[in-house]
Amino acid sequence: MRKKIVAGNWKMNTTLEEGRRLIEAIVDQEKPEDVTLIVAPPYTHLSMVNNVIDGQEGILLSSQDCYLKESGAYTGAVAPAMIRSTGATYTILGHSERRSYFQEDNATVFQKMRAAFSEGLKVILCIGEKLDQREVGDHFKVVQNQLEETICKFSAKEGKDVILAYEPVWAIGTGKTATADQANEMHGFIREVIAQNFDNQFAEQIPVLYGGSCKPGNAKELFSQSNVDGGLIGGASLKAEDFLAIAGSF
Ligand code: G3P
Repeated sequence: MRKKIVAGNWKMNTTLEEGRRLIEAIVDQEKPEDVTLIVAPPYTHLSMVNNVIDGQEGILLSSQDCYLKESGAYTGAVAPAMIRSTGATYTILGHSERRSYFQEDNATVFQKMRAAFSEGLKVILCIGEKLDQREVGDHFKVVQNQLEETICKFSAKEGKDVILAYEPVWAIGTGKTATADQANEMHGFIREVIAQNFDNQFAEQIPVLYGGSCKPGNAKELFSQSNVDGGLIGGASLKAEDFLAIAGSF
């Protein structure tokens, strides 16, 4: 039985105090028993959020990115070991916004994964096609390439804790959510690619989250799909009640 996971990607939102209020509201409200929550605040908030969630069952901490070097003269960059030292156990990598605004390609994502693994940081790996790629029928090829250029280059042992997040770029922040069938179809394809590159057992156990305008009103249908194990939530993660409503949608 795969883990049910709902992760909140706060992106570049909240001051430190707003973030404290948000995580305290999440911690203070009732949470679903069998769902793992992951919160991904800005780097500046990691230690504070770790202090607030300390001792809380079922809430894990993630960064939204990490650099690909261990340390050195890389002004502004944040190394995996620095992230681990805040208490975070995950990092999101390959998010489409990193790919588009910061020119990250699959090779960069692979290097960042390698650096994260070397410091014991687990990875939420984002994959997903753009609208024009889907419109010409290239969406499966694009996602397969993203997988084969990143996670598939590692051993099953290295990749055992990876969480995959399928985020169709055209659904992110647009209010245009993929249909449950579209999500389940792509999640099933993702498992086929993982099975081809690893084995069926690995493909069956790896969590695959859906991201892209997942809201309290559509989460139940999305999460009812056989190949969907939860969500990677952007906008709706900035309201504790919405984030927890989504987490309660299984
Ligand atoms: O990483 C999750 C994010 O890209 C989805 O954003 O606002 O469409 O839920 P949103």
